[in-house]
Amino acid sequence: MPLTSAERSRIIAAFNAIDPLEGWDWSRLRVRRATAPWDYIEIVRSLLRPTDHVLDIGTGGGEKLIGYVDHCASVVGIDSDPEMIKTANENLPPDLAGRISFQVGDANAPEFENESFDTVLNRHSVVNPVETVRVLRPGGTFVHQNVGSQNLKALVDPWRDMGDLELQDALELRDQFVALGCEVLDFREYDVEYVFLDEESLLFQLKAMPMPVSIDAERDAELIAEVIESTKGPDGAFHSNEHRFLTVVRRAG
Ligand SMILES: C[S@@+](CC[C@H](N)C(=O)[O-])C[C@H]1O[C@@H](n2cnc3c(N)ncnc32)[C@H](O)[C@@H]1O
Repeated sequence: MPLTSAERSRIIAAFNAIDPLEGWDWSRLRVRRATAPWDYIEIVRSLLRPTDHVLDIGTGGGEKLIGYVDHCASVVGIDSDPEMIKTANENLPPDLAGRISFQVGDANAPEFENESFDTVLNRHSVVNPVETVRVLRPGGTFVHQNVGSQNLKALVDPWRDMGDLELQDALELRDQFVALGCEVLDFREYDVEYVFLDEESLLFQLKAMPMPVSIDAERDAELIAEVIESTKGPDGAFHSNEHRFLTVVRRAG
């Protein structure tokens, strides 16, 4: 059904009023996720040893490091976006400055010597298997969580034909690590319900997440309305899904 002009104006104003993402901080979202089979931070903590030197590729604003830095010796976070590194440095608690550092760097050309790290982490960023294995010491571990192609399906689908989401395929990545002589320690997938508790959270997600094309509220008001309509449940919340893969591999020793 076509939108009334009042509803169209309301949606455009609501979408444009949402503040942009700062770093990679999604804490303002009001969401509820069904229990997932793993928690990334817990997995990382369980694999780290106190002596480990860790590289976090695509670190964003470094928001996740605080969750595991106490379980290792040091972490270097790299991100190709200088704005992310600026935010990460601003977020860095002064007492951790000796153990955590951030620098601009590309997953496809990390500027580190061979075998520099005991553990390489990558949550939701670009993976280059050859470069990852190169900077890992023999016997070192790579932990990767990535976003599945069906993630937040109801939010992405209206735009899916307009561009490419450019997600790397978890199975293909795993096979590339195997071809490089790595042992697969863990490979898992989940797809669970993910619920936005209010419309503002839904719109923030739509505005901030990588999409096939960036959303223009004037052009896309009908598509935004379609997402609101198709996800809204009888509880007044907005129901979608979270699709993730976990890959843990060990470089041959
Ligand atoms: C989805 S965010 C994840 C941030 C963080 N790892 C987390 O889980 O909260 C992906 C990050 O990867 C960065 N990125 C994208 N391409 C990259 C590349 N080729 N090399 C390094 N970082 C990259 C982006 O700038 C962004 O900060």
